[in-house]
Amino acid sequence: MVETKVFKLAQIKDAATLINAGELVAFPTETVYGLGADATNEQAVKKVYAAKGRPSDNPLIVHVASIETVEKYAAFISDAAYRLMKQFWPGSLTMIFKLKPNAFSKTVTGGLETAAFRFPDNQATLNLINISGKPLVGPSANTSGKPSPTTANHVYHDLNGKIAGILDDGPTRVGVESTVLDMSTDEPVILRPGAVTKEQIENVIGLIETNHHKVGKDETPKAPGMKYKHYAPKAQVYLVDQGDWEAAIKWANKQSFAVGVLAETQLIHEFNLGANITSYSLGTGVQEASANLFAGLRQFDDMETIKVILAQTFAANGLGTAYMNRVNKSAGGEHFEVEQD
Ligand code: TXA
Ligand code: MG
Repeated sequence: MVETKVFKLAQIKDAATLINAGELVAFPTETVYGLGADATNEQAVKKVYAAKGRPSDNPLIVHVASIETVEKYAAFISDAAYRLMKQFWPGSLTMIFKLKPNAFSKTVTGGLETAAFRFPDNQATLNLINISGKPLVGPSANTSGKPSPTTANHVYHDLNGKIAGILDDGPTRVGVESTVLDMSTDEPVILRPGAVTKEQIENVIGLIETNHHKVGKDETPKAPGMKYKHYAPKAQVYLVDQGDWEAAIKWANKQSFAVGVLAETQLIHEFNLGANITSYSLGTGVQEASANLFAGLRQFDDMETIKVILAQTFAANGLGTAYMNRVNKSAGGEHFEVEQD
């Protein structure tokens, strides 16, 4: 096994050299770390699926450092899309466009006639794209099914020895992935809620649809990634709604196994937690909770003894939609139920 190199920002040129050599380098964004490869090099892109253990029908986001690069590959960009780019790029809005014929290999698109484009808000990664001169594919740099990485350490944990390098720019700011908006259809549709909210998008282009329901194994979902298990630690996660915490902690205190509590600081201080309970603070408010969620799930995942994780819910509006979408998937939709006796 060849140890993965961790690059400091001063070493971006070395990271770019690896990209140009067809190697994999994980890169920081404002949302989560991505697993980068030259989007125009099919052999390099194939390595991304192998390193992550990702199903090959799940297409990749193409990361760019200019709108011109999108224009080079997309067959059509509407006025509404240009308005969104102006408002949110660089930033956490990914947009899907129809491609010109043979713009990218099938390995990038998963055989679709579209591709998802994203202009991340991270200067180091924009430099990496500019120095390498290549658009970069970039799924989240985690092992498929695990929570997305919000630090270089998380990437190293999952992918050491499987990728050439990691460009380290500290913890990510937003912590949940970008919003995926399909602009290739007549009506724009949100396929994955993310850091840019539906409300923010509607302020720019008017009312839009959301379509991020669960899809069965044999169905073809709009965003292929949605049919796979996601953000799932080894322990069973239960969502605990606001009024149910007292009962949930009472239950946890009676168990003989270890329980993790993932909640806001204030909530953790409100209860007497028994010796079998470990808490991880999500901070205060939905913004901090979103930034800390994946790190918390990962911390509990590294503690082999934890059998159950109790996780806080937030109202599903604004950024809360993205937070709830992720935590719901990690829980497989399971809520802590208060027993009636
Ligand atoms: O914040 C983010 O978006 C991060 C950072 C690294 O940029 N990237 C990320 O990529 O989350 P990934 O591959 O983990 O998630 C991309 C999602 C998947 O659900 C995928 O199925 C969907 O976008 N997707 C990609 N291309 C698509 C396309 N052409 N049509 C429909 N869905 C697409
Ligand atoms: Mg992902």
